[in-house]
Amino acid sequence: MRRFFSLVLPGIILFSLAANVWAAPQDKPAAQPSKQAEKATSKDPALVLGTAWYPEQWPEARWEQDLALMQAAGMNMVRVGEFAWSRMEPQEGQFDFGWLDRAIELAAKHGIKTVLGTPTAAPPAWLTYKYPDTLATWDNRRRATHGNRAQYCFTSQRYLEFARRIAEEMAKRYGHNPNVIGWQIDNEYGPVSYDEGTRRDFQEYLKARYKTLDALNEHWATYYWSQTYDNWNEIPFGPGNPGLMLEWKRFVSETFRKYQHNQVEVIRANADPRQFITHNFMGFNGNFDHYIMSKELDFASWDNYIGQGHTDFLWQGQVHDLTRGFKRKNFWVMETQPGSVNWAGINNALNKGEVRQMAWTDVGHGADAVGYWQWRSAPGGQEQYHGSLVGTDGNPRPVYEEAAQLGKEFAKVGDALRGTTPTPQTAILFDYDSRWAIEFQKHSKDFDPVGYLHTFYRPLRQLTQDVDIVNPSAPLSQYKLVVAPALNVMPEGTAQHLAEYVNNGGHLVIGARTGMKDEYNALLPSRQPGTILSKLLGGDVVEFYALEKPVSVAGQFGQGEARNWAEMLETTSPEAEVLLKYGKSNGWLDNKPAVISRKIGKGRITYVGAQLSEDVMANLAQWMMDDSGVKPALGPVPNGVEVSRRAGEGKEVFILVNSTVTPQTIVLPRPMRELLKDAAAATSLTLAAGDVGVLVSAVN
Ligand code: GAL
Repeated sequence: MRRFFSLVLPGIILFSLAANVWAAPQDKPAAQPSKQAEKATSKDPALVLGTAWYPEQWPEARWEQDLALMQAAGMNMVRVGEFAWSRMEPQEGQFDFGWLDRAIELAAKHGIKTVLGTPTAAPPAWLTYKYPDTLATWDNRRRATHGNRAQYCFTSQRYLEFARRIAEEMAKRYGHNPNVIGWQIDNEYGPVSYDEGTRRDFQEYLKARYKTLDALNEHWATYYWSQTYDNWNEIPFGPGNPGLMLEWKRFVSETFRKYQHNQVEVIRANADPRQFITHNFMGFNGNFDHYIMSKELDFASWDNYIGQGHTDFLWQGQVHDLTRGFKRKNFWVMETQPGSVNWAGINNALNKGEVRQMAWTDVGHGADAVGYWQWRSAPGGQEQYHGSLVGTDGNPRPVYEEAAQLGKEFAKVGDALRGTTPTPQTAILFDYDSRWAIEFQKHSKDFDPVGYLHTFYRPLRQLTQDVDIVNPSAPLSQYKLVVAPALNVMPEGTAQHLAEYVNNGGHLVIGARTGMKDEYNALLPSRQPGTILSKLLGGDVVEFYALEKPVSVAGQFGQGEARNWAEMLETTSPEAEVLLKYGKSNGWLDNKPAVISRKIGKGRITYVGAQLSEDVMANLAQWMMDDSGVKPALGPVPNGVEVSRRAGEGKEVFILVNSTVTPQTIVLPRPMRELLKDAAAATSLTLAAGDVGVLVSAVN
């Protein structure tokens, strides 16, 4: 998983773009087209390839050469400006955008459009020295200092005013610039502040939410350890009370939402609607609720880094599907590594071919853009060692070739992907409240809610070749199968929503640790998974056990192990069946149900009470598919070949990535054309080791 500390660490001539309007990523076909999509023209590239470029770090005389090299690699986008505040506003109130005007214009001459990053992740020294209250206070209660990034205080009104002003100045200047296609607000929002002002804001937030201290005391059960609050200003940051900790996370989400809105508002007021607004999130980072943060963005973006190691399309795929789920539409990979990073334990380079494979995996899951970080390392600065496309000598590094190959490929097959998006029949539900509630009190250091989700995602994605990850509040009727791995916090509304899905014929599978808490993170006065779902299931959780060592399981899904977590289940209705049982264990669990299920009309509800080993999970996933009628997007493929499907505008496009080191042959269900190699329609495809295929066919 991606680390958080990069935030505080000192931080090709092919086609020209005649159109000045770019499309925002595609909605699912059924959704209303966005304003951007309406304005899209067929001349906009359907797949965007680009890089983070920092013209402010280089003499202007060098720009032309850099842009010519980008153009030669088929790049059509640069992201610029997100750390350049001290160049845009060298002194308070004195703006200098001449250099940026020229950089944008020169890029356009090379067929390259610009995404502007607002520079608020890197406040200039004049600002933080003159107004130290704009600096964050870290959790050791020490104030941040200049020289890193993201050192601002996210609640500081003064900082918000400065941030708004620079964003507004930029929007006034570039909001109608035909060569600016969109905006990235800030960069990877992250650190919070523990200053007194933030504490007061937190208390105000609580007052607005609970209205009375009596209500707060009751929901948080503060008579426990004499925590009872008599005055709003007695409430600390935490950690401690689970209710308080969950509200702190919600407060942080709400504060970052306001922080973002502060800039979005002035950009929207000054920019053409064709210019999109996005933010580069960090995958499963849990600092705030990403569904909330994505609401007012046109689409979500994320920064796809591997760090140490190599590609694992089932892990990257999970993060892509999460990001697509933030707004339930296509997204951008705003940053990705050109070979290696500088912040992992061992900053190994990806093997030859992996950078290309990664990009195609991105696209398969619904990315409409891939941006490399970065073009060239600054001579100084904290990231001298990071991978880049151009070396210290200003010439292409070996990995540039792979980007250039992608440039050609994106240009060649982009049109086939226009108007397409993944349309899975399976959804996995993920919400931040539940994840946080478990992380506050893991009960087993080895139980990781995101890792637990992955035990479901991995076999399901492999078999179905198509999975959505969405908020539990999302509409569910389009899915044949819905899986809720550990929905720990279960407000009544969510339980009703899930019950309704089952009653309407849906197949719901709920995982361990589900339905234990109310929305205030208090224990529900019922057994898991809560009154509504227990009744539907005809069963419940009698007891939960954190496991020191694995426990054997056996039943309908074969034999295997429960690991880290096991719940003793019981059936309370004769209609509920036991599908898996524990073997000999601590005496309590011996021979007790581990998975129970009940058919309800055309629907079904199943409870999986443990973290199960891969063998059992593979069988369970196959059973979930068969029982719910989910079909694989393409069909069986050899191990190590990733299949993704994007559909729309009457066509289906399959992207196949052979991540193995040998050639692989895939049998196709009907004749399809492979576009990268211009192959004639055929019923099988052989991919060389590490190669990629893009297949198109009309929808049956
Ligand atoms: C990202 C960040 C970039 C760069 C990159 C290095 O988190 O947005 O500015 O630091 O990491 O991997």
